[in-house]
Amino acid sequence: MERGKEKARFRKKAAGCRGSCLAGRRRVIFSAMSSLLHRPRRLRASASLRNLVRETRIAASDLILPLFVSDRIASRSPVGSMPGVFQLTVEESAAEAVSAWNDGVEAVLLFGIPAEKDALASQAYADEGIVQRAIRAIRKAVPGMVIITDVCLCEYMSHGHCGIAHIEGEHVTVLNDETLHLLARTAVSHAGAGADIVAPSDMMDGRVGAIRDALDDAGHTETAILSYAAKYASAFYGPFRDAADSAPQAGDRKTYQMDPANALEALREVELDCGEGADMVMVKPGLAYLDILWRVKERFEMPTAVYHVSGEYAMVKAAAANGWIDEKAATLEVMTAFKRAGADLIITYAARDVARWLAR
Ligand code: PBG
Repeated sequence: MERGKEKARFRKKAAGCRGSCLAGRRRVIFSAMSSLLHRPRRLRASASLRNLVRETRIAASDLILPLFVSDRIASRSPVGSMPGVFQLTVEESAAEAVSAWNDGVEAVLLFGIPAEKDALASQAYADEGIVQRAIRAIRKAVPGMVIITDVCLCEYMSHGHCGIAHIEGEHVTVLNDETLHLLARTAVSHAGAGADIVAPSDMMDGRVGAIRDALDDAGHTETAILSYAAKYASAFYGPFRDAADSAPQAGDRKTYQMDPANALEALREVELDCGEGADMVMVKPGLAYLDILWRVKERFEMPTAVYHVSGEYAMVKAAAANGWIDEKAATLEVMTAFKRAGADLIITYAARDVARWLAR
C-alpha cells in the first residue's frame, strides 16, 4: 500500500521532469533509471580517474614558508599558539631553510624580532639587523632559495604599530608620509643584504612607489616588490602577534589595514599598488577572503599571492590536536581552495608539511 503510493508519487515527479527538462528530445521512459544521460559520477569512480580530470593542482614550488628570526633568544623557542612554528636564531634560520629546501620549498618570507625596539624602528634598517644577518646566512646556506622579506616596522617599534605614531593614552595616530622613508630605508637595507623580493605589509599609502624609487636610486633595480595590497584588519592575525612579538600596545590597526566588509576598495588598493610598481600582489588573510582573491586575479592578472595567516593555521592545528579534524586532508583542501580561487603563490606556516605530503 505504502509502496504503491511511493511509486505513484515518483511517476508524477518523473513526468514533471520529463516535461521541463527533456522537452523536444526523443521520448524517454523515465522510470528506467539507466537512461540518465549525464552522470558526473562516472569520472569519480577511482582515484586515478579523479586524478585525470582534476582541475586544480598544488605544487611545492607554489609555497612560501615564513620564518621568525629573533635576537631575543639563545635557541629555538616554540610559538605556543602555532604548533610546529618556532622563533629561530640566525644560524637556526639557515638550518631551517636547508630543511625546507630539501622538502621542496623554494621560497622563505623573513620576519625579524630585534633585541631592542624604539620609536623609530632603527633595527629594521640596521646593517647588522636581525633580518639582514638572516638573509646573508640563508643565502650562504641555500644559494638558490628565493628570499622574501616582510617590510614592516611593527616588530621594531616600541609601541608595536606599523609606522611612526603619535600616542596619547588610547588614542593613536599612525603618520603615513613620515613613515614612508623608514619603510623605503628598510627595503633598501634588505635588498643590500641580498633579498630577492621585499614585501611591504604596513598598509601605508604610497609605500610601494616610495620603495620602488628608493630601491632604484640605490641601484637595486632587480629587487622585486610583493605588495600586501589587500590586507585586512583581521582577527586571524592573533597568533602571529605572539610569534613576532608585535601586538600594538594601544589602539588597533583599523586606521591603516582594510575593513573586512570592503571588496571594491581591495580592487582600488591593488590598482594603486600596480600603478606604483608592484611586481606581485597579495590578498591577506586567505580563507575568509577567497572572493577578493578571485576578483583580484580576474581583474589584474598579476602574479597573485595569498597569505594563509596564523589564525587560519592555528584553527586547523587546534582542531586536529583534539581529534576533530584530519589535519592533512583539511590543510590540502585549504591549499586547493586558494589555488582554485586564483592564487599563484601561497604563504603558509604549513609549507614544509604540504611539500612533504605532495611528494608522497
Ligand atoms: C606585520 C604583519 C602581520 C602579519 C604579517 N605581517 C601582523 C599584523 O599586521 O598585525 C600577519 C601574519 C599572520 O597572521 O600570519 N604587519
